[in-house]
Amino acid sequence: MAIKGLHSLPTPSLPAMAPIGTVSTMFILLNFISQAIAVPSELYSPLVPQKLLRTFNSLPKPIQYPQYTDSSRPGKWAFFVPDTWTSAFFPTTLYEMDRRRTLCKTLNASGVDVDWLQLGRSASQGLVSLPGHNTQGHDVGFLSFPFVEELKRNPGNQTAINTVNGFARDLAKRFIPAAGVTRSWDNDNQTVVRVIIDNMMNLDVLFSSAELTGNQTLVQIAKTHADTTIKNHIRADGSTWHVVEYDADTGAVLSKHTAQGFSDDSTWSRGQAWGIYGYAQMYSRTGNPTYLETSRRLATYFLSHIPSDGIVPWDFDAPLKDPKVPGGVRPADSSAATIATNGLLLLGSLDEEDADKWTSAALEILDHITELAWKPEWDSLLSNGTVNWPSNNYLTGTVYGDHYFVKVGNDLLERGLAHC
Ligand SMILES: *[C@@H]1O[C@H](CO)[C@@H](O)[C@H](O)[C@H]1NC(C)=O
Ligand SMILES: *[C@@H]1O[C@H](CO)[C@@H](O)[C@H](O)[C@H]1NC(C)=O
Ligand SMILES: *[C@@H]1O[C@H](CO)[C@@H](O)[C@H](O)[C@H]1NC(C)=O
Ligand SMILES: *[C@@H]1O[C@H](CO)[C@@H](O)[C@H](O)[C@H]1NC(C)=O
Ligand SMILES: *[C@@H]1O[C@H](CO)[C@@H](O)[C@H](O)[C@H]1NC(C)=O
Repeated sequence: MAIKGLHSLPTPSLPAMAPIGTVSTMFILLNFISQAIAVPSELYSPLVPQKLLRTFNSLPKPIQYPQYTDSSRPGKWAFFVPDTWTSAFFPTTLYEMDRRRTLCKTLNASGVDVDWLQLGRSASQGLVSLPGHNTQGHDVGFLSFPFVEELKRNPGNQTAINTVNGFARDLAKRFIPAAGVTRSWDNDNQTVVRVIIDNMMNLDVLFSSAELTGNQTLVQIAKTHADTTIKNHIRADGSTWHVVEYDADTGAVLSKHTAQGFSDDSTWSRGQAWGIYGYAQMYSRTGNPTYLETSRRLATYFLSHIPSDGIVPWDFDAPLKDPKVPGGVRPADSSAATIATNGLLLLGSLDEEDADKWTSAALEILDHITELAWKPEWDSLLSNGTVNWPSNNYLTGTVYGDHYFVKVGNDLLERGLAHC
C-alpha cells in the first residue's frame, strides 16, 4: 500500500519489506538509512519520453511553447509565443531527458531513441533573442534555464553564455536599491514596486551569470532581494504572502496581498513551494545558514498544512468545498506539489540534521500527487494543476508541473534513491 499521510512523519509508515506487486501501483522499494521509501514507478514510465517527443513534434512553427492544457479541449496543450514566462520549461525538460538518458544509459525500452540534447538545443532557439527584448519582468530567471543546462554540457557555447548574461542583466536592471528588491511585475505607477514570492526562483540566474563574468554586483542583488523577502514576505508561522508592494523611493512596505491566492492573507501553495526551493538554492549558492533556516521554516509550514489525504491543495486556506469547480471539491495543484518535492529534495541534501525528514516528505508528496494526477491519455504528464483559480484556470496539466516531475525523477536517480 501507499505511504500514508504526512502525519506519520518523521517515522516512515511503510513496512520495510512491503511485498512488491500486491498493490495497484507498483513501487520501487529502496532502503535509505534503514527507512523504506517508495518511488512511484510512473516517474520512469515509457510514457514520459513518448509524450515529450510527441509534444516536441507538435510545436507550432514559428515556434510556440506549451504552457497548460486547454480547458476547452481537456488534456490538449495550449501553445504560447516565446515571450511568455513559461516558455523555457519545455526546452529545459528536453535537457532533463538528455540527463536521464545519461543516468539510465539508454531509454530504448520506451521505444523512443532520440538525441534529447539536440531536441533541447533546437527548442531553445526560439528564446535566444529574448534578453533585452521581452515583457517577462523577473521571470527572465525561468527563461534562462535551458541555457544554464547547455553550459553544463558545453561551457564554451557563446550563444548560451550571452543569453544567460543577458537575462541576468535584465533582472539586475529591475533592482530598486531603496527597497532592496528586484521588481517582479511591472505596473503603471513606477513608485510602486510589486514583488511576488515566486521571484525567489529567478535569483539563480544572477549567480549563473556571476560565475561566467565574475560580476559580484549580481550576487549582492540576489542576496539583498532574498534578505528583504525574509523580512516582509514571510509570516511568523512560516507561511508566505503572495505579493508585497514597496515604495521605490523610501522602501516602505505599501501593502501585502494576493494575486493568485484565495485571499489576501491566505497561503497560496505554489508560492510557498517556490519559496522552499528558492531559499534552499540560496543556501546552496551562499552557505548562509539564514537561508537554510528560512527554507526549513517554509517547508515545515507546507508539510504541516497538507491534509490527511496527502494532496497539496491549490491554496492552504481555500475551503474544502468549492462550488465553482466541477465536482465541488477544492482543487489540488500538482505543480505546487512537484515544485515542493524538488525543493524538499534539495533541502534534504543540504540539511544534515533533518535530511531524512525532508527526503521522505518529498517522496510522500510525489506518491500522492502521482496517484491523483497521472494522466496517460493527456498531452501533459500530470493533470490536477491549478494555473490560476481566480481566473478560473484549474484542473489542467502544466508545463512547469511536468518539468519538475521529470527533474525530481532525475535528482532521485542521481542520488541513488531510485532506479531507471
Ligand atoms: C539503443 O538503440 C540504438 C538504435 O536505435 C542502438 O544503436 C543503441 O545501441 C541502443 N542502446 C542500448 C544501450 O541498447
Ligand atoms: C549553443 O546553445 C544554443 C542555445 O542553447 C543552441 O541552440 C545551440 O545549438 C548550441 N550550439 C552548439 C554548437 O551546440
Ligand atoms: C555588473 O553588473 C551590473 C548589473 O548588471 C552592471 O551594472 C555593472 O556594470 C556590471 N559590472 C561590470 C564590471 O561589468
Ligand atoms: C504612485 O504610488 C505612490 C505610492 O503609493 C503614490 O504616493 C502616488 O500618488 C502614486 N502616483 C500616482 C500617479 O497614482
Ligand atoms: C483531479 O482531477 C480530476 C479531473 O481530471 C477531478 O475530477 C478531481 O476532482 C481532481 N481532484 C482534485 C483534488 O483536484
